Amino acid sequence: MTIHIGAQPGEIAETVLLPGDPYRAKWAAETFLKDVACVNQVRGMLGFTGTWNGNRVTIQGSGMGMPSLSIYANELIREYGAKTLIRIGSCGGMQPHVGIRDLILAMTASSLSTPSSGIFRELNFAPCADWGLLRAAAIAAEAKATKFHVGGIYSSDVFYDERPDLNEQMTRHGILGVEMEAAELYNLAARHSVRALAILTVSDHLATGEALPPEDRERSFGDMVEIALTAAFP
Ligand code: HPA
Repeated sequence: MTIHIGAQPGEIAETVLLPGDPYRAKWAAETFLKDVACVNQVRGMLGFTGTWNGNRVTIQGSGMGMPSLSIYANELIREYGAKTLIRIGSCGGMQPHVGIRDLILAMTASSLSTPSSGIFRELNFAPCADWGLLRAAAIAAEAKATKFHVGGIYSSDVFYDERPDLNEQMTRHGILGVEMEAAELYNLAARHSVRALAILTVSDHLATGEALPPEDRERSFGDMVEIALTAAFP
């Protein structure tokens, strides 16, 4: 047990999928995994371990924002020995060619700051995805004929953003979408020599104001889970 995860040693798999929403973790585990056990209920941040095609997988909620994700990712890596961490989440689209429902495979994640800024100080570290996972996810998305984009995203500290000028600069520099967790996941993966990737469904669009209808969310999320699992165990 750790401070925020109630699982016993050995109850967390080396491969962990990290949706922000704990109920998504429950849905994904019940929908895609076999022999599922609930391994965490602390603070309602549900986690489940099961198998997919015979491979052990944990699906653990990470909460919203980098400080929350950082707590779970640190404990999963440092205390439970997680080696492959794949965020499965949503993001706001920022480019005209990025549509609602499209997937984004985040090659890099820019930020104003992350929980790691305190140790990086003046260094502008470039958080990036694991190449093998990124490549495998692209192959899996192609095989499923899912429309996807590979490139840079923005990990923001705020959902209700008051800096339209900054979004303008991000868009100008080709950033595909905005979410709130990937940069710190990539920082931690680099620090601890583990693999990480963020796979994101475009749930809304900053330029058009368009949003994914609730009835479509489950299907898009399911595609993302399957692509994440295929990428983890190609
Ligand atoms: N901003 C930040 N995070 C998000 C967004 C957004 O517009 N959409 C989904 N996650």
